[in-house]
Amino acid sequence: MSINNVQIFDTTLRDGEQVPGCKLNTEQKLIIANRLDILGVDVIEAGFPVSSPGDYNSVLEISKIVKNATVCGLTRANQKDIEVAAAALKYAKRPRIHTGIGTSDSHILYKFNSTPDKIVERAIQAVSYAKKFVEDVEFYAEDAGRTSNEFLAKICEQVIKAGATVLNIPDTTGYCLPDEYGAKIKFLKENVKGIHNVTISCHCHNDLGLATANAIAGVQNGARQIECTINGIGERAGNTALEEVVMILKQHPYLNLDTNINTKLLYATSQLVQQSMGMIVQPNKAIIGENAFAHSSGIHQDGVIKNRETYEIINPADVGVNVSSIILTARSGRAALAYRSKNVGYDLTKVELDDIYPQFLQFADHHKEVNDNDIHHLMELNHIHKTSIAI
Ligand code: KIV
Ligand code: ZN
Repeated sequence: MSINNVQIFDTTLRDGEQVPGCKLNTEQKLIIANRLDILGVDVIEAGFPVSSPGDYNSVLEISKIVKNATVCGLTRANQKDIEVAAAALKYAKRPRIHTGIGTSDSHILYKFNSTPDKIVERAIQAVSYAKKFVEDVEFYAEDAGRTSNEFLAKICEQVIKAGATVLNIPDTTGYCLPDEYGAKIKFLKENVKGIHNVTISCHCHNDLGLATANAIAGVQNGARQIECTINGIGERAGNTALEEVVMILKQHPYLNLDTNINTKLLYATSQLVQQSMGMIVQPNKAIIGENAFAHSSGIHQDGVIKNRETYEIINPADVGVNVSSIILTARSGRAALAYRSKNVGYDLTKVELDDIYPQFLQFADHHKEVNDNDIHHLMELNHIHKTSIAI
């Protein structure tokens, strides 16, 4: 069976950057955009040009330097937004305008004080207008997660007729369950005329911790683009994390879905975004967290030292992390102490190990972690000398 490509649409610089505390200047955005291009993302959503002169300028400058990816600018469904986005994208090799409107009952009623038919009309007008400037127009149905499938199908069919090339089905509030979101994509595939000529895109938020699961359910049901951010940053609880969806597809080859991402650059890219935004991820964050390849319990450490795959489903090198780490704590066993001692030059005999292990435990009980200096100190106290060069 041939492998289907899933396009990665990165919105770190738009949905990610709009979060309080994550603001970047143009120079920082250019560095990140360049890195995303090298990482292999297919689309970079560079900003929301009408929102501020700074954002406009960033999209303009990013458009000049990006070599491979499509550069995308967000708009609302009105002419001014679309004109400003088109101007900001004028230097892009592959420009895309991302326009759309809220489609759920609550958006139609409370946000727009409108009716479903008028919303469809505005959507058609926005897509048709954007088509005057660029060929590639993505339509988003904001709050699609809480929009009835029938209305969603109706609006999607109309914007395809108006020329949309990509249909974004956002679970804006992170409300859907994976089954429900997957079924929504399936419903659109089966009920919208012309859907086979466009790409369906998943844009999922993480309010219930389901953003990644929902995006995967989406591609399993026929979507071929995932909108995501580095480290999962984004509005409220964030967006689908790029590194997670990419590694899920890589680690499950039987799904026959793959991306163009060079996974070996994931860790470095995550670090760049954390440092630029000052938004540090939690240590237990999947794939790129500091503990993602760290083993601390004695049973796990023993298993990993014997064979890495016992407790690791990803080779750390595949995401650009050098080694699995064995963290020495009071939960560590003899195997871990011997392993870490060997790394700093002490090839312990069984007798030496048995002698120092109780001392190690006593020390570890009073410290969070035992580091290389502590190991040297322990050896000195026990008159144990180095037998090899530290690695
Ligand atoms: O979450 C959302 O609905 C969005 C749209 C503007 C695409 O970010
Ligand atoms: Zn969003």
